[in-house]
Amino acid sequence: MQRIGVIPGDGIGPEVIREARKVLDAVSEKKHLALEFEEFPLGAGHYLKTGEILSDETIQRLSRKDAILLGAMGDPRVRPGILEKGILLRLRFHFDQYVNLRPIKLLEGVPSPLANQKQRIDIQFVRENTEDFYVGIGGRVQKGLSKTSLSLIRRAYEVRFDVGIDLKDEEELAFQIGVITRQGAKRIMEYAFQLAKSKGFNLVTSVDKANVLTEIYGLWREAADEASKKHGIDKEFQYVDAVALHMVRNPERFKLIVAPNLFGDILTDLGAALQGGLGFAPSGNINPSGVSMFEPVHGSAPDIAGKQMANPVGAILASGLMLETLGHKEAAKDVETAVQTVLKTGKFKTPDIGGKTPTSKVGNAVADVVASS
Ligand code: NAI
Ligand code: MG
Repeated sequence: MQRIGVIPGDGIGPEVIREARKVLDAVSEKKHLALEFEEFPLGAGHYLKTGEILSDETIQRLSRKDAILLGAMGDPRVRPGILEKGILLRLRFHFDQYVNLRPIKLLEGVPSPLANQKQRIDIQFVRENTEDFYVGIGGRVQKGLSKTSLSLIRRAYEVRFDVGIDLKDEEELAFQIGVITRQGAKRIMEYAFQLAKSKGFNLVTSVDKANVLTEIYGLWREAADEASKKHGIDKEFQYVDAVALHMVRNPERFKLIVAPNLFGDILTDLGAALQGGLGFAPSGNINPSGVSMFEPVHGSAPDIAGKQMANPVGAILASGLMLETLGHKEAAKDVETAVQTVLKTGKFKTPDIGGKTPTSKVGNAVADVVASS
C-alpha cells in the first residue's frame, strides 16, 4: 500500500487535481496498484476560515505519506506570499526536496511557439532546488563602514557570514550571496546521473556560468565531473546563455539538463513555453529518500478559476511523474500515452490552446483511454 497526500489548494488547483485523480483511479484499477488517497484542505479557504496556514500536525501527517500531489496555492483574497511561502515553500524545505524535476516534452497535437514544429523536444530538466542565489542572504548598506551578520540554516549544515563593508564614494549598495556546498552539488549530480542511467542516456548537459561566477560554479563543475566518472556517463558543460539559445534553435540536442537553482528557474519556464504553455508542464519536488511532492508548474490562475477553462494536462502528467517515482513505470507510461492519444485527436482543446473543451472532458477522455487500452 502506498499513501498519497492530496492537496488540491486554491483557484484551478482543485479543478485540475480532480481530473488527475480520475486518471490515477483508472490506472490504479487497471494495473492493480494499491494507492490510498487522503485529502488535505490546505489553502486560502482553510486559512480564511481558521486562520491556520499549515500546522505542525498536518506536516506530521504528510510526513507519513509516500508522496504528495498538489494543485496550486495562491488566492487574491490573501496577501501574496502568505500561502505560497507558508505552505509550498515550507513543505519543500521541511521535506528537503532538493530536486526539481521538470520534464519538457512537446506532445503531438500541442501547438508549439517555434516555427519549426518538426523538432523533437524531450528533455529531462533537473533543477537544484535549495541553494545557489536563492538562499536569500544579502543586504543593503549605506556609505561608510558597516558590518552585517547573515546566517543560513539548513538541515545538513549551518553557515554564518560576517560581512564587513567599507563603501566609499557611493551612497548605497545592495549585495546577495549565492551558496553551493560540496554536498549540495554532489547530491543533485548524483540524482541527475542516476536518472540519465535509468533512461539509457549517454550524456548529461550541465549548465552554469563558470567563466564569470568562477567560485560557485567551479565547485558545481567538480561535482559534475565526479558523478560523470562514477557513473560512466559523459558530461558537457554549457553556459546558461548558450543553453537558452540552443533550447530555442535546436532543442532536440538535449536529453538531460542539470542546472543550478537560478538558471534552472528561468530555463524551465522557457521549457514550459516550448512544450505548449504552463497548462502542459508537470513538475516534481523530489527527495529520493524522503517525501516528494508533485504538482503542475502553473499557479492557481484566479482569472479562469471555477470556469472549467483550466488545462488539466500538467496536473495529469504530474501524477504520472509521481507514479514513476513511486516505482510504477508501466502505469506512468500508460498515463503519458493516454494523454498523447487524446491530444493527438485534436478534439480536446482547452481555451489556452484555442479550444472550447471543458476541463473535465479532457480528464474523462484521458481516463477512458487508460481504462480501455
Ligand atoms: P498562473 O500560473 O496561475 O497563471 C498565469 C497565466 O496562465 C494566467 O493567465 C492563467 O489563466 C494561465 N494558466 C495557468 N495555468 C493554466 C492552466 N492549467 N490552463 C489554462 N491556463 C492556465 O500564475 P500567476 O497568475 O502569476 O499566479 C496566480 C497565483 O498562483 C498567485 O497567487 C501565485 O503566487 C500562485 N502561484 C502558485 C504556484 C504554485 O502553486 N506552485 C506557481 C505559480 C504561481
Ligand atoms: Mg518559476
